[in-house]
Amino acid sequence: AREIEADLTEVLVTEAQIQEKLAELARRIEADYEGREILLVGVLKGAVMVMADLARELRPHVRTDWMAVSSYGAGTESSGVVRILKDLDTDLTGRHVLIVEDIIDSGLTLSWLLANLKSRGTASVEICALLRKPDAARVDVTVKYLGFDIPNQFVVGYGLDYAERYRNLRDVAILAPHIYS
Ligand code: PRP
Ligand code: MN
Ligand code: MG
Repeated sequence: AREIEADLTEVLVTEAQIQEKLAELARRIEADYEGREILLVGVLKGAVMVMADLARELRPHVRTDWMAVSSYGAGTESSGVVRILKDLDTDLTGRHVLIVEDIIDSGLTLSWLLANLKSRGTASVEICALLRKPDAARVDVTVKYLGFDIPNQFVVGYGLDYAERYRNLRDVAILAPHIYS
């Protein structure tokens, strides 16, 4: 079978850089939430890898739950329309929610999600995102725990897909334009 690497132009963030950054973020999160239980809310499907690695890096007990929302479908551009495909199983009343995302692109998904979760009686809601594209921002989103700012190019890997492919790549890489154009 053809290997993923053939479809990429450049590795942007390596597996090692990701793990080092997640460890750093986990230490900050542990300090900030001292004595409070965190509910990690992973945003399916892109956040699966970040959620798995961040959750295992955290030493205290955490709860985990998942939401499935989608604003991209099969394309490369955000439609701006956020749909809930699967809601949380957890009652958020009084909970300290930490949303875990792979990437902030336009910011539309997270700004919508932030407002949605805050309306459910939470004690606090913060965001942890591995990647952000500052040049693609259409709305401002305050991210307390950020991994890396990256250029405005179509990236895949470590959970990020193009038409459901490339999520299994261990690094984050730029997808070769001939793949999607
Ligand atoms: C991607 C990504 C973020 C969102 C960011 O998800 O995982 O959730 O887009 O884009 P935005 O900041 O412009 O809203 P996608 O909708 O592709 O679903 P997926 O996680 O299942 O791939
Ligand atoms: Mn996503
Ligand atoms: Mg996607």
